Amino acid sequence: MTVMVAGQIARDLVLTVDKAPGGGEAADAHDRREMLGGKGANQAVALAQLGVDVGLLGVVGDDDTGAALLDQARQDRIDVSSVLVRGLTAVIVEVLDAEGGWRYVQHLPPESLLTADDVRAAADRLARADAVVLQLQQPAEALTAAARAAKDRPGPVVVLDGAPSDGALLSWADVIRADERESAMLAGEQVGTEERGLRAAGEIHRRGPWLAVLALDDGANLFAWSGRSPWGTAGHVVVPAVRTATVDTTGAGDSLVAGLVAALLRDADPVTAARHAVAAASATLGHPGGRPDLTPEHVARQLSLIDDAMRR
Ligand SMILES: Nc1ncnc2c1ncn2[C@@H]1O[C@H](COP(=O)(O)OP(=O)(O)O)[C@@H](O)[C@H]1O
Ligand SMILES: [Mg+2]
Repeated sequence: MTVMVAGQIARDLVLTVDKAPGGGEAADAHDRREMLGGKGANQAVALAQLGVDVGLLGVVGDDDTGAALLDQARQDRIDVSSVLVRGLTAVIVEVLDAEGGWRYVQHLPPESLLTADDVRAAADRLARADAVVLQLQQPAEALTAAARAAKDRPGPVVVLDGAPSDGALLSWADVIRADERESAMLAGEQVGTEERGLRAAGEIHRRGPWLAVLALDDGANLFAWSGRSPWGTAGHVVVPAVRTATVDTTGAGDSLVAGLVAALLRDADPVTAARHAVAAASATLGHPGGRPDLTPEHVARQLSLIDDAMRR
């Protein structure tokens, strides 16, 4: 099984401070991490860590940083043969405070974004994948081209992370996953509760996807699937958040998507897929920065906490 992730690749620099500085102030960082980042790369790293064959479609700069990111991705066992090299590498600086509050300062040069032509050049690989994973941070034309290429053959599961304003794009998707803000954009109102989540998911099912994953209050996630899902009947489950000490939520959504896709490709039942998705997210909350660290031990530990919380 193979997954193609189309999305952002960036150099992440994560600086941990006690308190973020205001204007005209400075703060000393007590922890500094530089890593392969960007949502596309984070999702690909997470999938590779979960044992999935994964290729990345994205852009790095024609510079030393870009070369270093490609090396890191290869070490992470990601197929980078579809990565484009041009311009300057995207850079994201995260300032993380002691309460887990983050601020991002990012430089995303226009040439670091995927174009529809970039995607069409990789169309064959997208159509041959078992799943194609897209994040809404890329231009709509590129995302639509990717979803269309994937649907050129009846095979790939198309997974969207985010809230498309474009109904056509949503109609191409099989699975959509949204954080709190994105869930509100999709629903047209704050979601928060299971009841409002189910209402929003019903509308999403009518518009295309057979699985909607929506963030509820307190870090819980609703997974709602329709009768058009591979499981044949409609249903839903709410998986609560379990981690008590959150260092940084950055990348947790990316890991959630990866955990979900890995489980779907292994023909998991929907509740198992949901538990594994949240376990992957949860395992990414305990360290600074978005780079996942999904060892079997880390995932198993979170799964057992989730199972305890779901029994209560
Ligand atoms: N306090 C918390 N405890 C557990 N999980 C949380 C908490 N706050 C947020 N989450 C989870 O973190 C994830 C953040 O997702 P998202 O905002 O998409 O992150 P990113 O885009 O940086 O990957 C969501 O899955 C949410 O359920
Ligand atoms: Mg997200």
